[in-house]
Amino acid sequence: MTQERVLTGDRTTGRLHLGHYAGSLQNRVQLQHQYDTFIMLADVQALTTHFDRPELIREHVREVALDYLAVGIDPEHANIFIQSMIPEIAELTVFFSMFVKVNHLRHNPTIKAESRGGSFDELYYGFLGYPISQTADITFCKATIIPVGEDQLPHLESSRYIVRRFNELYGPVFPEPQALLSKFPRLIGLDGNAKMSKSLGNAIALSASSEEIALKVRKAVTDPARIHKNDPGHPERCPIYHYHQAFRADEAAEIHAACEQGTIGCTECKHRITKTLQDLLGPMRERRAAYETKRGFVDEMLQHGTERARGIARHTMEEVREVMGIQYFK
Ligand code: TRP
Repeated sequence: MTQERVLTGDRTTGRLHLGHYAGSLQNRVQLQHQYDTFIMLADVQALTTHFDRPELIREHVREVALDYLAVGIDPEHANIFIQSMIPEIAELTVFFSMFVKVNHLRHNPTIKAESRGGSFDELYYGFLGYPISQTADITFCKATIIPVGEDQLPHLESSRYIVRRFNELYGPVFPEPQALLSKFPRLIGLDGNAKMSKSLGNAIALSASSEEIALKVRKAVTDPARIHKNDPGHPERCPIYHYHQAFRADEAAEIHAACEQGTIGCTECKHRITKTLQDLLGPMRERRAAYETKRGFVDEMLQHGTERARGIARHTMEEVREVMGIQYFK
C-alpha cells in the first residue's frame, strides 16, 4: 500500500476541549477519509507529567476515546490505539536516545520552559526525552503527516532531525514527517491567555453541558476597553471574537465590524457565540452519550486498533534490527 500515513494523538490526562478541536481534531475528521490514519491515546507520554496519577491516566484513555468518537472520528476509517500497548515504541525510544545529545533536547522551547531557563533541578529524565519518544510514536508506523497544534512544532523539528540521523547512521528506514497545522493552531483561552488549556482552567470541554457552556461564556473576559455597550471595541483582543472566527467564520466579519463600531454589545455577542457553541457541541454530546452506553464497542475498537498498530510496529522493528545488524537469532 502506497497511501501516506497520518499519525497524531493526545495525552490522556483530561477530556479534550475546544482548543484541541480547532487545533487538530477537526482536521483529523477530514484526513481520515484521505489517508491511512492512526490516532494514539498517549498514556505513556501522559506519565511524563502525571507519573503519580496512573489511575487518572487510565480513566482518560476511555474518556478521550469517547471524545474522538463524539467529534466524528470513525473507527471504520481511523485506527485508534493505546500507546503503552505498543512496546516497540519504547524500544525505538531507547535506540533513538543513544544518538540524541542532551544539548539538542535542552534547546527545545517546551523543555526549556519546564526546566526554568536551562536548570536541570526540576527536570525529569523522561520529560527531557519527550521529543525522542514522540519520534518513536511517529516512526513505528512510518507516518509522514502529523496534524498538531502550534505548541508541537519544535517537537516535530526534533523528529525530523532524529529520523535523518537514524537513516544516515544505519540505513534509510524512515520517511521524514511533516507537521500539518490547522487554520487555528492555537486557540485563545476564556481568560484571554494565548492558549486554551485545561491546566490553566480557561477551556470549554467538548463534553461540557449546555449550562456549563453558557456559564463559561458569560464569565469570559472581553475587550477591557468596552465598558459601555456602545464603546468601540477591539475584536482582536477579545477571545469571544476569536471563537466566532474559529467556529462560525461566516458571521465573523459582521461581528468584527459591529464590535469596532460599537453597534453590538458584549452581552449580545456572547449570546451569539453561546448559540454557536451549543450547535457545535450539542450533537457531539449526543454522540458521546450513545457510545457511553456501548462499553463493549469501545473496548473492541481499542483492541482492534491496537492490534493493527502492533502488527505494523513489529514489522518496522524487524527492519530496524536488520539495518542496525542486531537481528541475532535469524
Ligand atoms: N504531545 C502531543 C500533545 O500534547 C501528543 C502526542 C504524543 C503526539 N505523541 C505524538 C502528537 C505524536 C503527534 C505525534 O498534543
